[in-house]
This record gives sequence, structure tokens and C-alpha cells, in this order.
Amino acid sequence: MTKAPVIVAIDGPSGVGKSTVAKQLAKRLRLPMLNTGAMYRAVALQALEDGSDPGDRRAMRRLVREIDLELRTDGDGGVEVWLRGEPVGQRIRTPEVSRAASLVSAHPSVRRRMVELQRVFARRGGAVLEGRDIGTVVFPDTPFKFFLDARVEVRAERRHRELVAAGRGSTLEEVTKDLEERDRRDAGREDSPLVRDESHFEIDASDLLPAEIVERMVGMIRRAQEGDREDAAGDPELAEVADD
Ligand code: DC
Repeated sequence: MTKAPVIVAIDGPSGVGKSTVAKQLAKRLRLPMLNTGAMYRAVALQALEDGSDPGDRRAMRRLVREIDLELRTDGDGGVEVWLRGEPVGQRIRTPEVSRAASLVSAHPSVRRRMVELQRVFARRGGAVLEGRDIGTVVFPDTPFKFFLDARVEVRAERRHRELVAAGRGSTLEEVTKDLEERDRRDAGREDSPLVRDESHFEIDASDLLPAEIVERMVGMIRRAQEGDREDAAGDPELAEVADD
């Protein structure tokens, strides 16, 4: 009997530090880490490169039907998104792509296709996935679901620092406005809005270091796994399965 792959869902708004935490957690658990936002960003990049309108539902349906998007592991637990045979790299990390990604991710056809790719990828051998709808839509049945949140000032400062480090000069006010606008769109869209549900384990990341958050997550996952084993030990049939 093979064990079900471990799938960890990390959801939360922009700029909360999900990627850093997801990367460290994936390393600890020896699982690949999939940043699902990068997939929506890659769709947005293609739309911008093709001169298509990211807000046009029909154009995006066509685009995503034919998109040449692949997920490739880099051998170090990382997963890179490839578009038309090339890694997207930093091309998806511009403010224009951020805005376009928020628009393309509202289209149900785009979401359907991305969710399909995410499921195929994670079911192969488990994964840590970070995004907005992982615990609610992509893998609602996984027992390992986290919702990371932080105050908007903390998130804006983080994003601002990242942009400055990348040599892009946006003011903190611009970044804050941009974040608030994207929060509204992500939480307000009809298809798969950013929501936490009662099955998410919630963590306020405002005053915690990534390593502290990872420790909490690992503790919760281990406890859930041990709980499972204890449940299984009381049942001879399940105990056999759990020992495999
Ligand atoms: O996490 P991020 O900022 O790189 O995500 C880019 C955009 O994609 C953002 O507007 C939210 C959206 N997104 C989504 O709708 N669902 C996901 N699972 C991940 C990201």
C-alpha cells in the first residue's frame, strides 16, 4: 500500500511572505514548492507579450487553451515556470505583470487550467503549494492547510523593500495602494476568491520571522500525522495500512 502524497496548502494575501515560508517548509519536508502565483503571472506575461487584453475574458480563454506552460523542478526542490520553452525568471516580477496577473486570475477558464496543472503536479509526489485558493479549491481535502496573514503596512513595507532591492523605484504609498487594490480584487472576485475557511490553520505573520512560522507549521503537521497514526493504531486494519 502506498502512502498518499503529502500536500501542504499555504494561502494568504500578497506580500505576506508566503513564498519564503513555503520554500523553507518545503526544504524541511523534502518536497517541491510550487508558487502558484507565478503561473498566473506567466499567463499575464504571455498576454502582455502578445498584446492581448488581460481583462478580456474571451481572449484569455483562447490564450490559456493554447498556452505552452510547463512546471519544471530544478533539482533543488524549486519549481520553475516555463513559458514557450523558456524559464520565465524575473520577467514575471514587474508591477505591470502584477497588475495583469490580478486581472487574468479572475477568469474561470484561466483558473480551471491552472488548477488542473497544479493538481497533476502535486499528486505525483506531494508538494507545498502557495497561493490563494489552494486549501479551498485546489486541494480542499488535504489536512495541512495554512492561512498566513499580516497587517497591510507590514506587507507593503516588505514589497517595497523587494522592489527597491530589484532596482525598481516605487514609493511606499504606491506599493500600499497597489496592494490594497489587489487585495480587493483577489477577495472580491466571483471565482475562487481569497478566503480563509475554518479548516485553515491561521497564522498572523506580522511579528514573526519566517523560521518561527515554519516551526509552527512543522509542529502542526507532525501533530496531525501522529494523531493519524494513533487513530490508526486503534484499528488493526488501518494500523496495517499506516505501517506500510
Ligand atoms: O502571489 P502573487 O502576487 O505572485 O500572485 C499573482 C496574482 O495571481 C495575484 O493577483 C493573485 C493571483 N493568484 C490567484 O488568484 N490564485 C492563486 N492560487 C495564486 C495567485
